[in-house]
Amino acid sequence: MAMIRNKQVLFKDYVKGSPKEEDMILTESVIGSKVPEGSTAILVKNLYLSCDPYMRLMMSDPTEGGHPLFGSFTPGKIFFGFGISKVVDSGSPDFKAGDLIMGDVGWEEYTLIEYTDKVRKIEHADFPLFYYIGALGLTGFTSYIGFYELCAPKKGETIFVSSASGAVGQIVGQFAKLMGCYVVGSAGSQEKINLLKNKFGYDEAFNYKEEDDFVSALKRHCPKGIDMYFENVGGRMLDAVLMNMNPHGRIAVCGMISQYNLTESEGVHNMYCVVQKRIKMQGFLMRDYLHLFPKFTELVVQYLREGKLVCVDDIVKGIDKAPFALVRIFSGHNIGKQVVEIAQD
Ligand SMILES: NC(=O)c1ccc[n+]([C@@H]2O[C@H](COP(=O)([O-])OP(=O)(O)OC[C@H]3O[C@@H](n4cnc5c(N)ncnc54)[C@H](OP(=O)(O)O)[C@@H]3O)[C@@H](O)[C@H]2O)c1
Repeated sequence: MAMIRNKQVLFKDYVKGSPKEEDMILTESVIGSKVPEGSTAILVKNLYLSCDPYMRLMMSDPTEGGHPLFGSFTPGKIFFGFGISKVVDSGSPDFKAGDLIMGDVGWEEYTLIEYTDKVRKIEHADFPLFYYIGALGLTGFTSYIGFYELCAPKKGETIFVSSASGAVGQIVGQFAKLMGCYVVGSAGSQEKINLLKNKFGYDEAFNYKEEDDFVSALKRHCPKGIDMYFENVGGRMLDAVLMNMNPHGRIAVCGMISQYNLTESEGVHNMYCVVQKRIKMQGFLMRDYLHLFPKFTELVVQYLREGKLVCVDDIVKGIDKAPFALVRIFSGHNIGKQVVEIAQD
């Protein structure tokens, strides 16, 4: 069987503090151009890779606070995550060469996927393929679940979204505008604030890096208080939000990126507000709601086709640049969904 060159990204070793490009190693190997005889695997060419905050949790030593839910990457082994790929050869009756799929793949040019039960075919090929990493993929799905299922939104209510211009936040804000909410967001640069107000339709936005006192910043920007908080960052921002929540408010806890690089989490001091204000606060993992994926796809496809939803993706080109792409989401250098383009076709 002919062999093909396969550039790969390996995980070097467990990380403490902020991840660096050097925590990943670029290497090259070869892979067979066909699936092994008699196998039901599929061989895919990887086109786009998703860079996600949870990957940092998987870079920690499992014996020193590594994430029990996601597991850890193995030092010296392939880095992996969600991607968009094209089937090159198939031993599975469910897939054929040329099919476009989304699912977990190695950070490499080609992957042999042995277990195809978690792989989904991409149906609407008229959208840019990288949308299936962002708005039409698990990222958009996270926004959809957190907003519609957990925030229990009502027209006219105020929602505050942290990391609002990011992959998840930008979609949440637009869903909320379409529902008739008053939408406020925070982000870490003036460029992102401009995007929130001028592109995603946020009513108000502020740069949290320029605010010493988050409690008063939120009071200024949410004059009627906060009915719903879409939590992406945790730490000090959560504490300040608790002080500004309205009675019977809802907090959808999607993630806490400000804590992922810390050895010890900061702690939250204003939790008593949850009791006093009868707040409903719930964490969620989008993976528990996958049965709603078709409903989500239907809505977002319609919104995109009608021009009601826009998305901003930050595409870095080349597998060699994948480590660079990943680490920039922890310094806030990404503008929108961070994607690595390995190949367009
Ligand atoms: N529950 C789930 O199933 C699920 C699924 C997907 C994602 N998530 C969570 O959703 C959140 C957003 O993910 P995403 O993919 O949309 O990422 P993202 O917002 O596109 O990118 C991460 C952003 O976080 C901000 N950030 C980084 N370090 C920070 C810090 N120390 N304090 C405050 N902000 C910081 C930066 O923006 P600024 O410039 O604004 O600082 C950065 O651009 C994350 O917490 C992630 O873990 C959860």
